[in-house]
Amino acid sequence: MRPSRFWMHSPDPILATNPGCRTDCAARPFHRHLPGYRATPLHRLRGLARRLGLGGLALKDESKRFGLNAFKSLGASYGIYRYVAARWRESTGTALSPSAFLEGKATEKLGRMTFCTATDGNHGRAVAWTARITGNDAVIFVPECMVEERRRHIEHENAEMVIVPGDYDAAVETAAVEAKRRNLHVISDTSWPGYEQIPAWIAEGYETMFVEIAEATEDERFPPDVVLLQCGVGAFPASAVTWFRRRYSIDSPKIVIVEPLGAACVLAAVMARAGETPIDVGDGRTIMAGLNCGTASRIALPALCQADAFLAIDDHYTRKAMRTLYHSLPGDPQVISGESGAAGLAGLMAILEEAALAPVRTALSIGTGARVLVVNTEGDTDPRHFREIVLD
Ligand SMILES: Cc1ncc(COP(=O)(O)O)c(C=O)c1O
Repeated sequence: MRPSRFWMHSPDPILATNPGCRTDCAARPFHRHLPGYRATPLHRLRGLARRLGLGGLALKDESKRFGLNAFKSLGASYGIYRYVAARWRESTGTALSPSAFLEGKATEKLGRMTFCTATDGNHGRAVAWTARITGNDAVIFVPECMVEERRRHIEHENAEMVIVPGDYDAAVETAAVEAKRRNLHVISDTSWPGYEQIPAWIAEGYETMFVEIAEATEDERFPPDVVLLQCGVGAFPASAVTWFRRRYSIDSPKIVIVEPLGAACVLAAVMARAGETPIDVGDGRTIMAGLNCGTASRIALPALCQADAFLAIDDHYTRKAMRTLYHSLPGDPQVISGESGAAGLAGLMAILEEAALAPVRTALSIGTGARVLVVNTEGDTDPRHFREIVLD
């Protein structure tokens, strides 16, 4: 097992004292219109909290989101809605309501659109799903190494799939080039210079998850003390940092960003921005496929720089977290968590176990009494690998 890497800093006081304190988010009313919408469960893992010596451990289970086994549909659906609504406004001068969008009014007036994206699985499935339920089409660019089951789910949404030689980053580049050539509408969750608005809407869409968490804990003392968030290109954890800082201001929880050692693009980027000695992003080898990204999303970085700690962990911890959630302790629910889904809990386990991470434990007061929140961002999106790990 390779030792974890970490970096800690003090977040910028200007953002930390922003007196926003708003629980609302623009995306929630939209999501309520989607077929099958309901808040995903927030589990209290009391047995595991006791075992880990914590005051409490809550897990938001996004494997239950719209039957798609991952959280990504929150962002893709909202990003596509906002994109289509902007085109509708240009054409009609009026606002497009969520229900008119879902009834296909925009498609009738503007014509059928073909959305496209690169994906390591979950975002592509979510884009394809949104295209299907709104009467549009999708072309999804996937890296050649993507497992069969994830491909099958995308094809099941009637999307055209393009297999790109190379990794996720190669798929992102090919999608951008092919979109121009074929006149496709790019719905990417990562951003680059000149392509920022749609990824920003997608990240806004993820905020619905945090609103649901706040609602589910209305009667309790909230927020938690520490939140651990898994990170790929950074859109998901950036949306969490933005929401928690805006909602809770100086009482905001400490936030830990967790990446695989093989793909620590955000750790490398935030350290570079802070003028630290540059570090390697990693060799791209990790079982956490959803987090296996070589380049951080440009627009996510300012928010991510407001996190308290950045951690890159070995796959050993995510295997362990998957098994722990599957073989639940008496009284705790069983949670089906995939390789990237379990990464937040995996980061927590690393912090609690690894001697070299004692500075993180101490600085964030992760120990007896601490109330911790993690998100299971995906279920068993690679069922064969999932079974191998949990039944090992
Ligand atoms: C299951 C899962 N969790 C977390 C993430 C990380 O999200 P982001 O790439 O926005 O950082 C991803 C990204 O694809 C994912 O699939």
